[in-house]
Amino acid sequence: MAITTCVFDAYGTLFDVSAAAREAAGEPGRAALAERWAALAEAWRRKQLEYSWLRAVTGAHADFWTVTAEALDWTLEAEGLDGDDELRSRLLALYRELGAYPEVAGVLGALKAGGRRCAILSNGSPDMLAGAVESAGIGDALDAVLSVEEVGIFKPARAVYDLVEARLGAARGEVLFVSSNGWDAAAAAGYGFVTAWVNRAGAPMDRLPWWPAHVLRDLSDIPELARSA
Ligand code: LAC
Repeated sequence: MAITTCVFDAYGTLFDVSAAAREAAGEPGRAALAERWAALAEAWRRKQLEYSWLRAVTGAHADFWTVTAEALDWTLEAEGLDGDDELRSRLLALYRELGAYPEVAGVLGALKAGGRRCAILSNGSPDMLAGAVESAGIGDALDAVLSVEEVGIFKPARAVYDLVEARLGAARGEVLFVSSNGWDAAAAAGYGFVTAWVNRAGAPMDRLPWWPAHVLRDLSDIPELARSA
């Protein structure tokens, strides 16, 4: 079945989640952060995902902004940076305007030129996603921005992937689903999407019951994959 629709995960896939800590670390007066921004960014991301899964399996949903802030509080304490309220506020403000990876605009433009529909399907709350889409300047290339808030549970719950057919009318086999999160790509493959894992970090394949059909180093080959998959 030909690919009609390309659906992208947002955080880590289109938007660079380490940018907030990296940018803050470059600001004057942040020597403590400058020493360990990379560790902070990684721990913040890992904790954010852990909290999303724990809330999903316990039925204790809160929106992704809440989870992101709670994960940051844990991480600042773990890194010995708690108590710096100005730093906390700055990191959260930067998270609302994360930059997109350099190839994103060109890839979305090529997909649109090829007649494909493009959408985001993300854990992010609608206001977070609107801010990131606007600051990345990619709104015109997107046919839909779908948030898990519509179903009140985080990925990889199948109810989230169901939003693609419900909102875009696309059958699973005509959807190319793209994520930099190995677990998301794996679960989406199990769901029945044609799936590409964008393995920017060169991480090992997740040991889960399902495997993504394609593994890429960045998004550059997605338009060609949408043509040939
Ligand atoms: C998202 C997270 C999982 O955008 O990256 O859904």
